[in-house]
Amino acid sequence: MDTSVKSTLFTLLCFIAFLTSCSPSEKQEQNIAEKRRLNDGDIHSYANLDEIHTKHLHLELDVNFDNNTIYGVARHQMVNEKGVDTAVFDVKNIVIQKVTTGQGKEKETDYVIGQDDPIIGAPLMVAIDSTVEFINIYYSTTDKTEALDWLTPELTEGKKYPFMYSQGQTVLTRTWIPIQDSPSNRITYSADVKVPKEFLAVMSATNPTSKNETGEYHFEMKQPIPAYLIAIAVGNLEYRSLGKNCGVYSEPELIDTCAYEFADLQKMINAAEKLYGDYRWEQYDVVVLPYSFPFGGMENPRLTFANPTLITGDRSLVSVIAHELAHSWSGNLVTNASWEDFWLNEGFTVYFENRIMEELYGKEVADILAVIEFQELERTLKKIDQQDTKLKLNLTDRSPDEGMTDIAYIKGAYFLRTLEQVAGRKKFDKFLKKYFSDHAFKTLSTEEFVTYLDHHLLQPNKIDFNTDEWIYEPGIPENCIHITSGRLEKVEKLAEDVANGKNSSKFKKYKRDDLTTQEWMAFIRKLPADIDVKTLKMIDDQLGFKNCGNSEIMCEWYLLAIERGYTLVRPNMEKFLLKTGRLKYLEPIYEELNNSRYQSDKELAKKIIEKAKGNYHPIARISIEEILKS
Ligand code: BES
Ligand code: ZN
Repeated sequence: MDTSVKSTLFTLLCFIAFLTSCSPSEKQEQNIAEKRRLNDGDIHSYANLDEIHTKHLHLELDVNFDNNTIYGVARHQMVNEKGVDTAVFDVKNIVIQKVTTGQGKEKETDYVIGQDDPIIGAPLMVAIDSTVEFINIYYSTTDKTEALDWLTPELTEGKKYPFMYSQGQTVLTRTWIPIQDSPSNRITYSADVKVPKEFLAVMSATNPTSKNETGEYHFEMKQPIPAYLIAIAVGNLEYRSLGKNCGVYSEPELIDTCAYEFADLQKMINAAEKLYGDYRWEQYDVVVLPYSFPFGGMENPRLTFANPTLITGDRSLVSVIAHELAHSWSGNLVTNASWEDFWLNEGFTVYFENRIMEELYGKEVADILAVIEFQELERTLKKIDQQDTKLKLNLTDRSPDEGMTDIAYIKGAYFLRTLEQVAGRKKFDKFLKKYFSDHAFKTLSTEEFVTYLDHHLLQPNKIDFNTDEWIYEPGIPENCIHITSGRLEKVEKLAEDVANGKNSSKFKKYKRDDLTTQEWMAFIRKLPADIDVKTLKMIDDQLGFKNCGNSEIMCEWYLLAIERGYTLVRPNMEKFLLKTGRLKYLEPIYEELNNSRYQSDKELAKKIIEKAKGNYHPIARISIEEILKS
């Protein structure tokens, strides 16, 4: 659409919003929806980025643990390309105190908050003079702010101090900062953060490595990033350097074990740089958060947020760190333009993660991980709607989080592995290296990627490839690469024998430590669907899966136990669900309990969530309550 028409439409929208902000008419809703569709292809943001966008954001934040609130000022430095008189930001569940324009000498200005949508929140429309450069939004978070998890001391390792951290991806940054919350815009940011002096604050920016007396910290993120990557964590944190430009933060009680677990961090960075070019963010640290953190890891730039379930003592889940590090290229350096292109972030990252693992630990380990992933993809394909098995998603009127499935991750990675096989590794690596450097600090849509692939890999090498089928069609194409692992085949045979009561003397020799996490996962997955409870108990007595402390194994085991009615695991499973907030485990376990043929499982799920929900991050609480409603 022509830009002057867009701008007229927008002015009209603001006018209607002013008139009807209490009870918005249907017309207004239609206009807002129309406006969203105009927004550079990102249907999950109201921002008028094609007219005016933030270039730099300075945050002043006061983190208050007495009432679990952040009081903030978001100072946006704007580029008003079209000379418009309104700037639109995204907001959700935050309170706006006032909006001013100018720097130094500020002047209050009018603003209006439009109709609220349960997924993407509301547009905050600020009236400006077209020459204005700075817009300052004074605000505070609320108890409905979904991005922030405020933990009581009991939920931390040290049990002495509370803790707070944010999770912005996908559309939650707008719940703690009024911002143009679309991945299609990149900004630099700085922050002045005030916390009680017992705490250390860290962000996805330059970070302090120790506490100071004032509790005031300054942060700079000089490389431009999308809004979903702005992040903060505040707690009793300690830092340990692990190399030239990397290290780990955690509560003091965990710092030694974390340092042991992530000892290979520097090697990972070196391997990643060797593969696809320089690390562009200077420092790479990891902060290990409390158990409620809803993800395994989150790639906040310069500072990956990690779940303590990764700390297994045997370094067997470090591929998650390889994954988050890989995002420093795929996702953070080259970013998906909208959440419908999410596979560009995650598919590339799973591919890259595996390449890092191969560099460090060899092809056998990398193949094991890829096979385990493929099993998960097959499970997912059976469960989800056909339409959602396409790489390019249609998320109209849906939460962008619905795109977080094995399709984006694993089908995406297998697409790239298949391309690698067809093109040859050497050519493919050269292509990827150039892809990252050509698009550094840019955003990219699926369509742009397809054209780039065609011009830089397929055409020059005369490769005939079914790209469109992989991206725009459901399911897994015929030519998908098939990866196998001899080691996994061996444990799968062991599982079959155990289930059939064969070779029991051989099995009897096994201890839990004899095989790796992934091997035991494959073992559990291979146990037949009709296995009896007696055999499960025998396995558990020998190997102690139900309380082995390794979350990946425990999760697999509990899923099978629920399915087979092996109720002895219940006390351990309940403990697990009360402690960990990682969605990867919570969602399947609660789903299995809720869909169980045993009524007592459904009741158990309801009983546990009542006790556990206060321990979960808002994202997890909402997701599990949704599962239990059905
Ligand atoms: N960026 C994701 C986490 C995410 C995705 C948060 C979508 C919110 C919305 C992160 O990099 C991730 O993929 N984490 C995975 C681990 C990975 C090894 C597959 C996780 O948490 O399980
Ligand atoms: Zn990821």
